[in-house]
Amino acid sequence: MNATVTQDSPQTTDKFATLNIPGREPIELPILKGTMGPDVIDIRALGKQGYFTYDPGFVSTASCMSRITFIDGNKGMLLYRGYPIDQLATKTNYLQVCYLLFKGELPDKEQYLDFENRVKHHSLVHTQMESLFQAFRRDSHPMAVLCGVAGALSAFYHDRMDIYDPEHRELTAIRLISKMPTLAAMSYKYSIGQPFIYPRNDLSYAANFLHMMFATPCEKYTVNPVIERALDRIFILHADHEQNASTSSVRLAGSSGANPYACIAAGIASLWGPAHGGANEACLRMLQEIGTPDRIPEYIARAKDKNDPFRLFGFGHRVYKTFDPRAIVMRDTCHEVLNELHITNNPALKVATELEKIALSDEYFISRNLYPNVDFYSGIILNAIGIPTSMFTVIFALARTIGWISHWNEMQTVKDSRLGRPRQVYTGNPVHNVKTLRLPRH
Ligand code: SDX
Repeated sequence: MNATVTQDSPQTTDKFATLNIPGREPIELPILKGTMGPDVIDIRALGKQGYFTYDPGFVSTASCMSRITFIDGNKGMLLYRGYPIDQLATKTNYLQVCYLLFKGELPDKEQYLDFENRVKHHSLVHTQMESLFQAFRRDSHPMAVLCGVAGALSAFYHDRMDIYDPEHRELTAIRLISKMPTLAAMSYKYSIGQPFIYPRNDLSYAANFLHMMFATPCEKYTVNPVIERALDRIFILHADHEQNASTSSVRLAGSSGANPYACIAAGIASLWGPAHGGANEACLRMLQEIGTPDRIPEYIARAKDKNDPFRLFGFGHRVYKTFDPRAIVMRDTCHEVLNELHITNNPALKVATELEKIALSDEYFISRNLYPNVDFYSGIILNAIGIPTSMFTVIFALARTIGWISHWNEMQTVKDSRLGRPRQVYTGNPVHNVKTLRLPRH
């Protein structure tokens, strides 16, 4: 068992940052440190000194303390509760990772079987949820539907919800882990006009999702074990990622004490954007639009052109300044799935492989540390499995739910958790004097 040496809060050091502002006394700011990663300058006292810091996009800001996930962007390191992602992706399954992220340690056999049993027995949604889908146009984007129906869970689990009771919080996590695949598959079935398929408790988590997605009442559906394993690995790779935009949305919503199911809907909404979780859908569409390797230079030129908003989807990352470790596992899984399905000339993979080679030798990408990220290969795998492009981010949201709810749970347990309320730099009008306002005479 690995040693657990987490901290209850950032540790003080004997170092201070001195802020010298002309015309006033220097301001001493304590430097704090975690168990890993860069030290942080504690700026909490600055507000009382009449200053805010300015950091759009929080590029240099630690918004909270957390013990769940650690990323070292320069080393391409991603740890869930201290375990490297490549080891988890190849040696565990998604439910073991859910237990790890939420509870802080990998489960032993008895703990795992109990957890799996609890998840399996919460996979149904209230039948009234089915009529909720009818309110959506059939051609609605599945993320729009998922945003709505996931948030609607808050209407079913609100009155007796005590967010300060650890057991209520764990039951909420179990319900969400279990019901998100059901709602995701229902979003897909609704979009193609097929009947909803009930979950099956005799199947594994990934197999059950494939069953609910692709089975019909008319014939038996057999899950391909290679595809089942690949999908389970995709869930693991997407499970959590520190304070990304969608997790930060869940934390900010949760900081007001809001219903956790509604907070998860905030995460789904944020993840949908093409700069974030929507990149997997945008990336495959981009690869298909490029079509053949000979058109890659045209798109590389567009990606470099400051006057063109086009960016290479699946490339670049706010934190990783080398390969995203998930992209490496995803690339291997991509080849595994295509071999299993005997897909030898996948045009999107051909373009992706050539694009990766060209971009990684191009000065523009090298100088900006732009490498393939988690979204670069995932779309090719999902497409090969038969999952429609519009469902890619739904798969991401399904997998990330455990990360979101683990951060929401952690917030309720740490001392420095407060209502999130950032300030701003005001650049609007100075004070207007209403007396001088010339109102039109009636
Ligand atoms: C995810 O945060 C997370 O952890 C997210 C995630 C998770 O698991 O939750 O990892 C999942 O969202 C992965 C990222 C998926 N997004 C994409 O693939 C979309 C394409 N990528 C870019 O939009 C961009 O790289 C971001 C948004 C991901 C990160 O951008 P940053 O950190 O805000 O960096 P930036 O926009 O300031 O870019 C720095 C430079 C700029 O050029 P210069 O102004 O210096 O000349 O790099 C350029 C950018 O123009 N650049 C790109 C580019 N990404 C950055 N140029 C072309 N193509 C790109 N993809």
